[in-house]
Amino acid sequence: MMTLNKSFAESVIAIAEKAAAFISSSHGNVKAGEIVTKDLNSLVSYVDTGSEKIIIEGLKNILPESGFLAEEGTTARTDAEYIWIIDPLDGTTNFLHQIPVYAISIALQYQGEIIFGLVYEVNRQECFYALKGQGAFLNHNKISVNEAAFADTLIATGFPYYDFSKTKAYLEVLEELMKGTRGIRRMGAAAVDLAYVACGRFNGFYEYSLAPWDVAAGALLVREAGGVVTDFKGGEDWLHGKSIVVGSNQTHAQLLQLLEEKF
Ligand code: IPD
Ligand code: CA
Ligand code: CA
Repeated sequence: MMTLNKSFAESVIAIAEKAAAFISSSHGNVKAGEIVTKDLNSLVSYVDTGSEKIIIEGLKNILPESGFLAEEGTTARTDAEYIWIIDPLDGTTNFLHQIPVYAISIALQYQGEIIFGLVYEVNRQECFYALKGQGAFLNHNKISVNEAAFADTLIATGFPYYDFSKTKAYLEVLEELMKGTRGIRRMGAAAVDLAYVACGRFNGFYEYSLAPWDVAAGALLVREAGGVVTDFKGGEDWLHGKSIVVGSNQTHAQLLQLLEEKF
């Protein structure tokens, strides 16, 4: 197994910084005709694919035998021991509307377990990373989740935008949270939501219909920062299972109780 340490993290961070520079240089330059609708409300442009290309080229040099699962089409050798799970631009809708909340998300799986996660927030140049068993960091400073009384929590979520099958349950949960917490935020970038839970800005986050590349890196950040990560049933199927709820111990328990009740 490769050595999982700060210098490994730095080699991946350098690649993310290169992709982030490309994304930043394109901010505000994408024309309407250059935006493609993949699915209902799911947009993509040359910026997403260009970022993915930069990331894949860089990562190939770090671990030549690895496989890839990336949002914009780079899926290769998914039976390899090491698999990179990549969202080259999380928060594409924000990016295209020039709302400055978007990130790059890169995770590494070894024999099915996530051992490294990086969320690089492009505009604030905040680099969140976690190494399995070694903690989570923001710009190399250790971070941890934030425990608070439920009434004092700030909760992040993502509104359903293409799968409306569970909207009723979703809105009921939202109503309870509006009444019972300090507030709710919809940032528009799940990787950022997870990173912000890891560093204690948010106390918890939940969303359904996410893909593995949205959550792989951020979930490790939360766990290594002392938080809890499950699916909406309290189980482990949050990477491929399309539902995730995270938070500090107490906040996660309270969110999960609400989700189990309503969903
Ligand atoms: C999206 C963002 C958004 C979430 C969506 C994701 P994308 O990712 O993370 O916050 O609500 O479900 O698909 O498409 O911008 O990479
Ligand atoms: Ca995403
Ligand atoms: Ca994306």
